[in-house]
Amino acid sequence: MKVLVTGGAGYIGSHTCVELLEAGYEVVVLDNLYNASEESLNRVREITGKPVAFYKGDIADAQLLDTIFTKENPDCCIHFAGLKAVGESVEKPLEYYQNNIAGTLTLLQAMRKYNMKNMIFSSSATVYGDPAFVPITEECPKGQCTNPYGWTKSMLEQIFMDVQRADNEWNIILLRYFNPIGAHKSGKMGEDPNGIPNNLMPYVTQVAAGKREELGVFGNDYDTPDGTGVRDYIHVVDLAKGHVKAIQKIETGCGLEIYNLGTGTGYSVLDVVNNFEQATGVKIPYSIKPRRAGDIATCYCDPSKAERELGWKAENGIAEMCADSWRWQSNNPDGYGK
Ligand code: NAD
Ligand code: UFG
Repeated sequence: MKVLVTGGAGYIGSHTCVELLEAGYEVVVLDNLYNASEESLNRVREITGKPVAFYKGDIADAQLLDTIFTKENPDCCIHFAGLKAVGESVEKPLEYYQNNIAGTLTLLQAMRKYNMKNMIFSSSATVYGDPAFVPITEECPKGQCTNPYGWTKSMLEQIFMDVQRADNEWNIILLRYFNPIGAHKSGKMGEDPNGIPNNLMPYVTQVAAGKREELGVFGNDYDTPDGTGVRDYIHVVDLAKGHVKAIQKIETGCGLEIYNLGTGTGYSVLDVVNNFEQATGVKIPYSIKPRRAGDIATCYCDPSKAERELGWKAENGIAEMCADSWRWQSNNPDGYGK
């Protein structure tokens, strides 16, 4: 079975390529390298000892999609490609809607043209907005997103539902990721953000590496045990394995399904700092800053549907997530050198 992985050179995509190859799937990557380096795919090849076909290009390039579908004839698509910087999406909504939504429509049209109707989509806990309840189940109503990035996920979910409702030959799984952190155990692959990291863990590892002076903790007056924001951090390799399980589900002809992928445990910002210090022995200086616009207090999931129906459960705890993030950062101070 051959899998087209859009955005496969990125953080979650590259880790998923490793798990797919190790599970015996063939992999074809389409990525425009806007936020990635081909070096990540070299590492995938190095770790697995297997080939990865790579097309450098855009999901919105219908001609390139014709070439890929004709030459590679994939059986399933895992669709990671998209822009994901929350703050940037507020500045550049048109670019986000164009890239994420229009790009995905072109991809879906190509899939329909070649009668390949199996899709796994990278959605996000962001679609729950400020969640109506925690732990969040898949039945939790979708909420108001606070930025265009979040809306692209929410709107794309609706588009996928409508496409599948109109034609039940489609098998579509929407995976709502919680907060992926961590890196491959080899220390050869990990997250490689451009510029100042937006997300907590890459910021923490850059402070640990001496690249940044201190962590700013965005608010300590939330209604949480220590006042800082609580999230459901999930090891990226566990997340990657969830995609392999999702493909197996697609192979049974599942129609449309939605799964939360998280651990079910929430950690505060200060919990992460403490666990990082314990796991690595490196001190993280921090200071309390004002709340960040659009942030919510608490977000963690009930992952039991994925366990029941996919046979998937996160295996790594917060200590491994911290240790693996640090191994990647310290072995590769400049990331992939992109
Ligand atoms: P990433 O930026 O590392 O990976 C996305 C990849 O898509 C990049 O390699 C980029 O070059 C590529 N890309 C972007 N637009 C493209 C286009 N038009 N054509 C071809 N390639 C394109 O991000 P990631 O963290 O690996 O996230 C993967 C997916 O998961 C994204 O859709 C993201 O929105 C979603 N997601 C991520 C998180 C997270 O916290 N990392 C949480 C929830 C959902
Ligand atoms: N935080 C800090 N300091 C930082 C960075 C983050 O205190 O320098 C805090 C945030 O305020 C939040 C927590 O750490 O309480 C986690 O923040 P992240 O930016 O790492 O993650 P978010 O939960 O805000 O958002 C992430 C992705 C979104 C996605 C969402 C839900 O960035 O794309 O998870 O999946 F939508």
